[in-house]
Amino acid sequence: MATPLPLAVLVSGTGTNLQALLDSVHGREAEIVAVASNAADAPALERARSRDVATKVFPRGDYADRPARDAAMAAWLREQGVRLVVLAGYMELLSPAFLDRFPDAVINVHPSLLPAFPGLHAVEQALAYGVTVFGVTVHFVDAGLDSGPVISQRAVELPDAKYSNTVLEYLRPLEHTLLPEAVRLFARGALSRDPANPRRVLIAPEETEGTVLRSGEAADG
Ligand code: GAR
Repeated sequence: MATPLPLAVLVSGTGTNLQALLDSVHGREAEIVAVASNAADAPALERARSRDVATKVFPRGDYADRPARDAAMAAWLREQGVRLVVLAGYMELLSPAFLDRFPDAVINVHPSLLPAFPGLHAVEQALAYGVTVFGVTVHFVDAGLDSGPVISQRAVELPDAKYSNTVLEYLRPLEHTLLPEAVRLFARGALSRDPANPRRVLIAPEETEGTVLRSGEAADG
């Protein structure tokens, strides 16, 4: 088997997506070599420690500004040999000081069908808007707010949903499927951009049959 891809995960909260990665791709296609957080009390950190993954906290208040914090975090991850960074419930924007160190190699999971409802409290935003279809997006990260090229999306119809907890119960399993699959495909070198439209992420043809990310019918090839 090919050498596992050295992977870092950034977290701010509970860490169920980190757990999905630890349980499904860690030690296989990818090796989670570092978990970083902006929040010392993020329960996700304990999930990493319990699997002997190196952790480090980069509180915003310890640095002059966000770019200085992000530069320090990027430097630590580069020291660990990281080649892909996954944002799994990381609740801050990353500045160019970070993104420039990992070009085309930062992936985020977001609990809405982007470009609808970017930013914080996406499910609450969707409920307030009154939508009947909710969903999840996995995407490459650029300098904007949840605005990078989409890798995969999955929708769920919940016309009677009233509470964010209920919606999240439906979205979590989708996240825990789509995010590890995106990491697997990245590790295999199967993700690329359509030269005709770099916003479109392509999956290598030999991978498309086996992946859950392209399970719908092709409309026009
Ligand atoms: C997930 O639902 C993720 O999509 C969301 O935070 C949650 C983290 O859960 N991310 C965002 O809203 C980013 N804008 P977890 O800590 O259990 O993985």
